[in-house]
Amino acid sequence: MVLVHSTTWESGPNGDESVKFFSPFVFAICQQGAESTLKQQLQQPPLPWKLSFSRPGFLTFKYPVRMAPWSEALPQTPWIRTSGHAFGAIEGEEALGMLEQLIAQYRELDWEAVHLWERDCEVPGDRRFEPGESLLAEDLAGKLRERLKEVGDPRHEQVFARGTSSLGGRVLDVIVVSPDRWWIGCHPSMRVEETWPGGVPPLERPVPWISRAYWKAAEAVAWSGLPLQAGDRVVELGSAPGGACQWLLQQGLKVTGVDPAEMDPWLLHQKGFEHWRERSPAMNKERFSKFRWLFCDANVASSYTLETVERIVRHPANHLEGLVLTLKLASWDLAEDWESCRDRVASWGFQRVRCRQLAFNRLEFCLVADQPRPAGASPSDLEEGLSKGDAAMIPANESPRGTLAPRPTRSVSLRTKPAGRPFSPEDAGARDAHGSGGIDAGNEPQ
Ligand SMILES: C[S@@+](CC[C@H](N)C(=O)[O-])C[C@H]1O[C@@H](n2cnc3c(N)ncnc32)[C@H](O)[C@@H]1O
Repeated sequence: MVLVHSTTWESGPNGDESVKFFSPFVFAICQQGAESTLKQQLQQPPLPWKLSFSRPGFLTFKYPVRMAPWSEALPQTPWIRTSGHAFGAIEGEEALGMLEQLIAQYRELDWEAVHLWERDCEVPGDRRFEPGESLLAEDLAGKLRERLKEVGDPRHEQVFARGTSSLGGRVLDVIVVSPDRWWIGCHPSMRVEETWPGGVPPLERPVPWISRAYWKAAEAVAWSGLPLQAGDRVVELGSAPGGACQWLLQQGLKVTGVDPAEMDPWLLHQKGFEHWRERSPAMNKERFSKFRWLFCDANVASSYTLETVERIVRHPANHLEGLVLTLKLASWDLAEDWESCRDRVASWGFQRVRCRQLAFNRLEFCLVADQPRPAGASPSDLEEGLSKGDAAMIPANESPRGTLAPRPTRSVSLRTKPAGRPFSPEDAGARDAHGSGGIDAGNEPQ
């Protein structure tokens, strides 16, 4: 077992030990396939990040100077699932030895929690792969907990392979890039998605199992904090077979699914559910006046989704307070259009419009729009409501529609489920061509 790379250890002028954890490297986790998009976005001149070591779904970049561990590592873009500062890799054949190295090297960093997760080995939903389900990560996290307890480190209870660490906490990241190579990094948890290991929310597989869209709806709401309330009316365009409607019903909402295809029979027997079996563009738009929220997951081009939803939102009879749109990408080349989608929805009068490629998305991303500006609110009122530095979120200009006052937020609970996926032997062979495990400038994903 070898420590392959580490930042140069040194003390500050006053013996400040924390300086030794300053690093010029950052890591970014994304869906497999998003690497080129991300590289292009982060390396556009005059941006200072230069590509370094990378693997599918895992990228590192070098910054011109070393940065403090608990500073923000990278700007927000929809394609980064999670990110942080990167210290280097621990490589070995034997997990216990690698854990010893981890503890010896990083115990003195003032972290409060550990996120330990495995890099995605597939696109979510392909070959039964789902992010966050890793028996290997669960097992390693258990062993790390035990070892920390044995050495008397009170932080042993804060080691997560799944789950949610504290908001505002300092997190040590252990990224299992392959079983014999772990990358070590850290990040401050300033947003809810940064409290989930690898940026993957801990979601259960529901019973009955209807579709993956159950997770997409749950993650969209957990990430965005959309203030859904029991009893609210929600409509989903593109609702069949009905995983998202199932999740919305479980939150106590009254749900209408719009889809020419059949809904799962389980849904048809649920109180609070109705099915409009038709195509959304052909419908009379006044029929949407009773809804507070609109979800859309129709498998059509994003321009078609936006056209359909715009007609509904702009109709004077309707007063939608929030949208959750799944915008499909026919190819990764279209990913750069995300900003024009965001701007278009903002022009309809929503105060906040945010975009993220959810962990449970496939070749698509999620756009959430909410909080129409209360009548008479000034631009400075708006600014206060926005989290600064969130590049994936903008305020709208003038609201062209009637608005409703924001209601109190209800948090949506996320429960963990037992890990389900055994670690793949394919991963064991996923070593890089250089065999160094270090931060290799210019090394492209394979
Ligand atoms: C990805 S599936 C939706 C999954 C669904 N949200 C769930 O929770 O299971 C896409 C659906 O969009 C529907 N669809 C496509 N065009 C539509 C339209 N114009 N209006 C309504 N539904 C449409 C298709 O029939 C298909 O069932």
